[in-house]
Amino acid sequence: MWPGVTLRSAGARLLGATGCRGSRGRSAPAAASAVYSENQISRTSHNKPWIDSACGSMYFRPSRMTSACLKGVRAHRLLWTRLHSASRSSVDREGLKVFLALAHKWWDEQGVYAPLHSMNALRVPFIRDNLLKAVASHQPGIPLSGMKILDVGCGGGLLSEPLGRLGASVLGIDPVEENIKTAQHHRTFDPVLDQRVEYRVCSLEGIVQESAETFDAVVASEVVEHVPDLETFIQCCCQVLKPGGSLFITTINRTQLSYALGIVFAEQIAHIVPKGTHTWEKFVSPEKLESILESNGLSAQTIVGMLYNPFSGRWRWTENTSLNYAAHAVKCKAQEREAPVPSACKGEEAGARAEASASGAVLES
Ligand SMILES: C[S@@+](CC[C@H](N)C(=O)[O-])C[C@H]1O[C@@H](n2cnc3c(N)ncnc32)[C@H](O)[C@@H]1O
Repeated sequence: MWPGVTLRSAGARLLGATGCRGSRGRSAPAAASAVYSENQISRTSHNKPWIDSACGSMYFRPSRMTSACLKGVRAHRLLWTRLHSASRSSVDREGLKVFLALAHKWWDEQGVYAPLHSMNALRVPFIRDNLLKAVASHQPGIPLSGMKILDVGCGGGLLSEPLGRLGASVLGIDPVEENIKTAQHHRTFDPVLDQRVEYRVCSLEGIVQESAETFDAVVASEVVEHVPDLETFIQCCCQVLKPGGSLFITTINRTQLSYALGIVFAEQIAHIVPKGTHTWEKFVSPEKLESILESNGLSAQTIVGMLYNPFSGRWRWTENTSLNYAAHAVKCKAQEREAPVPSACKGEEAGARAEASASGAVLES
């Protein structure tokens, strides 16, 4: 067994990664005013830019991709209806208080966010390499130059900054104003980021209409486990992606193990984090996530497990997705959305699945 202090510190680091929670006894101040509060649902626009025009050409891609795309058309129409007819939001204001309380801690590499710092060793190459698969050539040193990336739930900019250094134009958004202030302040330490990384206090829904099909990639790292309406969140991610663009998600699985470690042990036994900071029901399994992705016109390319070692403070890739995992999905192109599903593609579908899972399984840090 770990001795108490070590256990507490190690546990806090583990959970910091999956939920970014503070240590025992740290109560979040009731400062909800600093949390984004604009009406996230605009009712004024009559544009439906996400409904693509029809295209007659047939694409003989794997049927899995094509069926995801066909479902995507319906999902985009549904999103329009949802955003305009109900006050659905992906933001859980109560849940954000803990991030507000810890907003000054983002860049403490030994602090509560240490696991997010060390996760960069995996997630930055994961994002970079998958994005570069789609380009013929790139500039050495700034391989992501020319790409626009949206970092949703950017926190203090831990992931936005390295992506900016790789040459990408990054927009980091977060509903917690104090997080954005921290991110903006830290960006000033590296002049190279000045032109490349921008931050805004807002929700994803808040920028959907103005940012339709704008980004080459959307990143939501350690965010979806805090989102009350994942379906709407994914729909919005898809909406702001260019056709063929990539969605990257890292999150925590909904398993007995994550319940035992994240809820029972950490909150109720060891009191590493305050009770109620994690909601196990918000955790999502890779299967469920893949199904939501597919029903929104996104085809999952890779889903791979990530394992954190609280003793070394390092992450590594693993085939086991029972705790943390990373996902990469691609938004179908307009032509694919309109293409009928050829029955002859059934075999290709099986082949594509095997290939995708194999490529995920061999990823190494
Ligand atoms: C665990 S932190 C991850 C921060 C950052 N992505 C990283 O990995 O370094 C979760 C972040 O998501 C933000 N967040 C929570 N719910 C959100 C939502 N519905 N939309 C966007 N961001 C959200 C929080 O304010 C917090 O900054």
